[in-house]
Amino acid sequence: MNIIATKTKDEMASVAAGIFATQIAEKPDSVLGLATGETPREMYGELIKLYEAGAISFKDIVSFNLDEYIGLAPEHDQSYRYYMNDALFNHIDIDKAHTHVPDGMADDLEAEGRAYDDQIRDAGGIDMQLLGIGVNGHIAFNEPGTDFASGTHPVDLTPSTIAVNSQYFATPQEMPTTALTMGLASIMGAKKIVLIASGPSKAEILDEALFGPVTPEVPASILQQHPDVTVIADEEALRVIHEKDRL
Ligand code: PGA
Repeated sequence: MNIIATKTKDEMASVAAGIFATQIAEKPDSVLGLATGETPREMYGELIKLYEAGAISFKDIVSFNLDEYIGLAPEHDQSYRYYMNDALFNHIDIDKAHTHVPDGMADDLEAEGRAYDDQIRDAGGIDMQLLGIGVNGHIAFNEPGTDFASGTHPVDLTPSTIAVNSQYFATPQEMPTTALTMGLASIMGAKKIVLIASGPSKAEILDEALFGPVTPEVPASILQQHPDVTVIADEEALRVIHEKDRL
């Protein structure tokens, strides 16, 4: 595992964008796994700048997002489809027909999950997967206790995740308590994984995930078993790792 320490969140964003830009330059038809949340926003901003400067094109890129709330239509401003359009897709030359977000409005969510994994496989698998990490150790919406062998599946969100994410909704009660998420096996199938983390709230869990026991209780700890993981984290997120002299 390669851990890149940055001073600030902005630096984390530009280093991560650089890694994705290199991937795109080397393989213009890459299949990218993308993430939502507060952590990747600036990184997407950096990718837009690189596109505007003519350094990269997304015209042959295929993307798969990690997750979506169940019951939120794509037009809902807290849906992850809306986030991706707003944060990235509307500003670059990607073909939206080649962008995938799990359908949280599907009637049969288990079948939608299986079909999503089939689509990833049919696209040739994910070349580079972006991940954030939740304060409870989740990656995508794979909450503590998730089976390491899981494919894309519907989940009940934990009180911790609901508490963290409900702040983005007009009223906390509007936040869905279920989601459709790429599974841990789906994520581990990616050829390369890039995990980004920023801020003091991630310091304890980042240490547990990267250096603690590999256990379903800390879903991100499964990444210790992946052969090609790059972690980019700012000083605040690395506080415990530095304190314990892990690097
Ligand atoms: P955040 O979410 O980027 O909003 O902190 C990360 C996550 O929950 O995976």
